[in-house]
Amino acid sequence: MNIILFGPPGAGKGTQADIIVKNFKLIKISTGDLLREEMEQKTDLGLKIKSRMDQGKLIADDIITDLITKIISEKKSVEDIIFDGYPRNLNQAKILDTLIKKYNQRISCVLSLDVDKETLKKRILGRIICTNCGMTFNKYFNPPNEKTHDCGANYLKLRSDDTENTINSRIEIYTNQTLPILEYYEDKKILHKIDATGEIDKIYEEIRGIITSLET
Ligand code: AP5
Ligand code: MG
Repeated sequence: MNIILFGPPGAGKGTQADIIVKNFKLIKISTGDLLREEMEQKTDLGLKIKSRMDQGKLIADDIITDLITKIISEKKSVEDIIFDGYPRNLNQAKILDTLIKKYNQRISCVLSLDVDKETLKKRILGRIICTNCGMTFNKYFNPPNEKTHDCGANYLKLRSDDTENTINSRIEIYTNQTLPILEYYEDKKILHKIDATGEIDKIYEEIRGIITSLET
């Protein structure tokens, strides 16, 4: 089973993907995480993309395709994957279809998380990430504490693209370039729209129901 977690910046794609992989035999591929890792390690690619990432602009399709192709060829299949934040435009969606077909696989469902703009802004501006364990927290909604996080406060950081300045343009890019792909998946009859404004656990329950129904 292959799943795409779809939604605007701050919708909770990463949060839900992390819960899903703990409960189902799926692995997460997040193009955002892969790109941030390149920046963290200051690789040639990381240095090249930093400015665009910080401005919240999309990275070129050929760079993204190289990253995805590398992972898939290492894994030798496209099976039991949750794609988080990929594909981001129609071209990437078609490239993913081509890659998947080579392995006789398909996308089982697209879970589209719907959240209003004001909530997205609050989630993005409150986000705190741990650079050691990769967990995501939120200053307003789920602050890290001794029970939920033990790497220590030194690893807790804000994301460099989580600023007041970039939020509007990230949401605009999503609306203009990413959101139109939903029609592509709607036509394939694999689209599930989810109201993702509520609590993390309640949203996950709805997602769990959908994934379970696909397994049977
Ligand atoms: P990416 O890392 O994919 O970022 P994004 O799409 O902007 O999404 P976010 O990671 O900001 O949000 P999320 O939906 O994962 O929310 P989260 O779970 O963290 O991409 C970053 C950049 O990389 C792009 O701008 C682009 O430059 C580049 N890029 C990546 N992929 C690309 C591609 N395929 N092509 C081209 N460029 C690409 O939650 C947000 C916060 O809210 C957290 O603090 C969380 O704790 C909290 N939260 C989550 N759910 C809830 C809830 N239900 N209630 C309360 N709080 C919640
Ligand atoms: Mg994310």
